[in-house]
Amino acid sequence: MNSSRPGLIERYRDRLPFEPGDPVVSMGEGSTPLVRADHVSELAGCEVWLKLEGLNPTGSFKDRGMTCAVSAAVREGAQAVICASTGNTAASAAAYAARAGLTGAVIVPEGKIATGKLAQALMHGARVIALRGNFDQALELVRELCGRHPIALVNSVNDFRLEGQKTAAFEVLEDLGGEVDAVCLPVGNAGNITAYWKGFVEAGAAPAMYGFQAEGAAPLVTGRRVDKPETVASAIRIGNPARWEEAMAAMRDSRGAVNAVSDEQILDAYRMLASREGVFCEPASATSVAGLLHHRAGGARRVVCVLSGHGLKDPQTALEQAGSVVPCEATIEAVERAVLG
Ligand code: F0G
Repeated sequence: MNSSRPGLIERYRDRLPFEPGDPVVSMGEGSTPLVRADHVSELAGCEVWLKLEGLNPTGSFKDRGMTCAVSAAVREGAQAVICASTGNTAASAAAYAARAGLTGAVIVPEGKIATGKLAQALMHGARVIALRGNFDQALELVRELCGRHPIALVNSVNDFRLEGQKTAAFEVLEDLGGEVDAVCLPVGNAGNITAYWKGFVEAGAAPAMYGFQAEGAAPLVTGRRVDKPETVASAIRIGNPARWEEAMAAMRDSRGAVNAVSDEQILDAYRMLASREGVFCEPASATSVAGLLHHRAGGARRVVCVLSGHGLKDPQTALEQAGSVVPCEATIEAVERAVLG
């Protein structure tokens, strides 16, 4: 065992491409809470559950894919792993590489990733490369690099990533006794929605998959690549998703849909989740709830919204969106005024 809580390779080995005795790099990822959201349910007119993927070891769902991608890389004898990233994949790859004793390198769009994610990648000792370009360019370059050098690519173009991420669908089914009508997800590079659908299909379930993108970065909605994607939800600032076709197939085959929400709608949902549900997620994650509230999920009665990353990843956006602190002198009268209004 790699941690006191079984990680997902251990938990779902019979449904993953790992044999007993294979190396496992794990930090007890997966088994994240699924919590009922009463306020969101009321607003949406259906029963809504939130899958808190920010409670994975590095604070995002990427750890599900990374335990598999890095374990497979170790099995193949890799010395180094690399990824392009809007931040969370970088943090996760850096952590799992550190744990495995591998060299980690991450290429991120310069100045465009949230502070917490940058701090994580640096703390874990990865080589952090700030590209003067966007995520799509970073991914293109990193793929070319891996064609020239023996470095394991751990973006979601790596099938092991999807294998790991599909386990979230198993957990949803287990927690809800198989009864779920629709699943809402934020969509960036389109790996996660592809992975969820794979998991549901393997488990014999077929909830409708609803993908939501930010208006300024919505290639799946418009059907056209976006050369200069823009959105406050930096994690999904992506104009040419690698899993484009598969994600569209997942939404079509499950009778779901893909839609866009504005930055304002994303931030409204972001603040509402924190202030009304007690759940602090990052802006990209709130896209799933914003999408449900503005586009609905067909006639679904029970819906799961995936909150893909923790709010602490992006303290800057939080402080910009939140109320201000109350300054106070150190006397009881001043404290009374400050506390009681
Ligand atoms: N939510 C968060 C918090 C993310 O970090 C990402 C993707 C997504 C949703 C979208 O998932 O790409 O599988 O459609 N982040 C990647 C990264 C691109 O580099 O961290 P997807």
